[in-house]
Amino acid sequence: MRSVDPGSGFESWRVAAKRLLAENVDPAQVLWEKETDAGLFGPNTVAETGAAYGTNVPADFVELARSVSCHCDPSRWALLYRILWRIVKDGERRLCMIASDPDIAKALRMQKNVRREIHKMHAFVRFRLMETDEMTGRETYAAWIEPEHHVVEASAPFFRNRFANMDWSIFTPKGCAHWDGSKLSFTPGIEKSPIGNEDALELAWKTYYRSIFNPARVKVKMMQTEMPKKYWKNLPEAELIGELIEESRQRVQGMHEEQPRLVKPVARNAYLGELKAMSNVVPCTGPSGEQTLEQLAKAAESCRGCPLWKDATNVVFGEGPENARIMIVGEQPGDKEDIAGKAFIGPAGRLLDEALEEAGIDRSTVYVTNAVKHFKWKPKDTPRGKIRLHQSPGKGEIDACRPWVLAELQRIAPDILILLGGTAARSLLEREVKITKERGLIDAGSLAKRVLLTVHPSYLLRVPGSERKSAERQLFINDLKLVVPR
Ligand code: URA
Repeated sequence: MRSVDPGSGFESWRVAAKRLLAENVDPAQVLWEKETDAGLFGPNTVAETGAAYGTNVPADFVELARSVSCHCDPSRWALLYRILWRIVKDGERRLCMIASDPDIAKALRMQKNVRREIHKMHAFVRFRLMETDEMTGRETYAAWIEPEHHVVEASAPFFRNRFANMDWSIFTPKGCAHWDGSKLSFTPGIEKSPIGNEDALELAWKTYYRSIFNPARVKVKMMQTEMPKKYWKNLPEAELIGELIEESRQRVQGMHEEQPRLVKPVARNAYLGELKAMSNVVPCTGPSGEQTLEQLAKAAESCRGCPLWKDATNVVFGEGPENARIMIVGEQPGDKEDIAGKAFIGPAGRLLDEALEEAGIDRSTVYVTNAVKHFKWKPKDTPRGKIRLHQSPGKGEIDACRPWVLAELQRIAPDILILLGGTAARSLLEREVKITKERGLIDAGSLAKRVLLTVHPSYLLRVPGSERKSAERQLFINDLKLVVPR
């Protein structure tokens, strides 16, 4: 029996696994040790192991292994090595495509758990303002959350993109993430929330400060000009400075002098607006981590995150099986949907149903929802009387509703996510999207295994001329066929 240390995560496991393969060590002969959480986020993990990328294994295995390695089950390393062995030594190169294989089925379940956990992080991290720097006015936010799996690193880029212009730390027992406006860094997990406990918070921030301290760049004189000594006494990390400078004299040897990095300018209003949008949406009851889909739908009835509820008849929440492999996100309910309280039952819904059927997708197996849950309209007089004229939701309304869509996505954790039109894309990709430019399968990080971006069916209703209409309809069906589960 060979006892092997998987190291601090996917990259170091990969190096160890590659070595074992080269030595022909059978999976049954390997005892993978349990890594400690302190080992995660250790220094230089990637740099030390970058060479491991040379292994010639199918890309679908690498993607699966990356997710599975974030799972908390200690048996994951043995499972991954067994799958790797079967691919490389037994020549089962298409193994990852066989969902019924017991090893793959287990790995896919783990991947799904990890994806759900990442979505949970995205939806339920709540930042609190911790301090405002007296000299610069810059504010620091902190959040505490207890994920079940090791998803802090995987979910951190989402927060960096959304809250790029504020300093923040997310503390968790499975590792902590920190953003200083220019760089993400990670420190080991802590057992209890430091928020509200000044000593614990100081300690957590000292650990972070130690992790980002770069001895090659210590210029004591410069530091004192930037941050005069008289201020040091109020900074938790300041008492480390002397000690770190001393240590740096040894650590600096062998390190190359780095070019200074440009620090992004701060535009604070942007993130304050975001934070407001995030927190305004939940003045009442949800979404929260524990609610079922049914409870979420109920909680959304009392959402006052934007003014659209005032003119709507019903909140229209998503519908479909909780274990759906496909989730479809549209724009917002229309007139018919608003009255019935059900998504996609009007003309656009009928077109969607037909297209799904022609593509070979059974709507009853799909979870269907909208980016915005209330109907936005304005009254219009027509020869046939007054009608409620559809209005496209604005950015603020899309942002305010996003936590609900993320909560649905987290519960469903679909393999396939279909975004119909610009509003759905803006909601989940969090950027302006030109459908004509990006239409098709897109890379959308951890949202789902496959993400399809396509037109909204109501666009097809508006296309002029029967020939063009039917051509556009066919293109839409072709798009849907790209994600038909086999
Ligand atoms: N359009 C949508 O985006 N959603 C609906 O539910 C109906 C029309």
